Amino acid sequence: MVLNSSKMWLVVVLALVMGSVTCFLNPINEEMVENIKEKAKSWAPMEVHENPLSSKNPFELIKTIGSKGIQEDISLENDDFDDDDIPESYNIKEQWPDCVIPVQNQEFCGADWALIGVGILSERYCIQSGGETKLNLSVESILACDDHDWGCSGGYPDRAWDHMTDSGILTEECFPFESKDGHRSQCPFQNKCVGTADAEYKKYYSTPFNFFSGEKSIQKELMANGPVQTEFQVYGDFLSYKSGIYQHVTGAKLGFYSAKIVGWGVEDDQKYWVAASVHGENWGENGYFRILRGTNECNFESSTMAGNPRES
Ligand SMILES: *[C@@H]1O[C@H](CO)[C@@H](O)[C@H](O)[C@H]1NC(C)=O
Repeated sequence: MVLNSSKMWLVVVLALVMGSVTCFLNPINEEMVENIKEKAKSWAPMEVHENPLSSKNPFELIKTIGSKGIQEDISLENDDFDDDDIPESYNIKEQWPDCVIPVQNQEFCGADWALIGVGILSERYCIQSGGETKLNLSVESILACDDHDWGCSGGYPDRAWDHMTDSGILTEECFPFESKDGHRSQCPFQNKCVGTADAEYKKYYSTPFNFFSGEKSIQKELMANGPVQTEFQVYGDFLSYKSGIYQHVTGAKLGFYSAKIVGWGVEDDQKYWVAASVHGENWGENGYFRILRGTNECNFESSTMAGNPRES
C-alpha cells in the first residue's frame, strides 16, 4: 500500500502522540517518587522498579482504576454500638483470623469495584456463621453476568452489590476469575460450572446493601458485621504507595478505586484506617494500605457500603 503524503503525516502525528502518551503520562515515574519523598510526611513511596503496577503501560494502568463512582447515597448509622464502645484500634484479622481471605490481584482487569464487594460478602458469610461457612465467592459472576456494568472496563460498586442481591453469585471454584488478562468472559448458561468439574452450581446472595458514612458509623458497622467497602478518589501518588499513613500530596485525579476497610488505629498521634487493595501482596504493606482517618481523606469516609449474607 502506498500512502499519500497527508496519510503519511497522520501516521507520523499518531506515532508521536502515542509515543509521548506512553512516555509522559504514566503516573508511576521517577519524578513522582521524588516528589512524594519531598512532600509526604507520614508515608513512603515504592521505587518504580519495585512497584508491581509499573509492569502495566499507562492505558492498562488507568483501565484498572475501575470504579465509576456511586449511583446513590443514602447513609445509615449502625446502632449496635455506642460511640464509647469503639476501641482505639481494631482489625478484622485479629477478630476473625480464620475468615480473612487473601489479598486479591485484579492484574489487567479493572475489577476493583466488584472484587472488593465479593471478598467482603465471602468474609461476612464466614464471620456471621461463626466461622462455619467458608467460601471464595466468584467475582467473574459479576464481571461476566452483570449487564449494567462493563466487566474489566469498570463498573459501579453499588450495582455490584445489587447484582449479588438480585441474581446471586457462584463460587470461585465454579466460575473462576479468568478475566485477569482484561477480557470479559461469557456468563455460564444451562446452570453449569465453568471451573472445577465437580464444583457445585449454587448461588449465594447478599441482603440489599446499606451505605455508611462518617468515621464512627463505619467503625460500628465493621465491629457489628465485618469489613466494609469504600469508594475513594485516586490521585497519581497513591499508585506509588509503599508504607505508612497515606495522605494525598501530589499527582492528578485518576478516578475511583474500591478498597476493603478492615480496621483502624493510631500511630504518632495520627489516626488511620487499614484497608486492603486489589494489587496482590507485593504492593503497599503486603497488599494493604493505611490512610488518614477522621478527615474524609480522598472521600474515603463518605461512600462506604456493604450487605450481609442471605441464604438463597
Ligand atoms: C479459598 O481460596 C484460598 C486461596 O486461594 C484457598 O487457600 C482456600 O482453600 C479456598 N477456600 C475454599 C473454601 O475453597
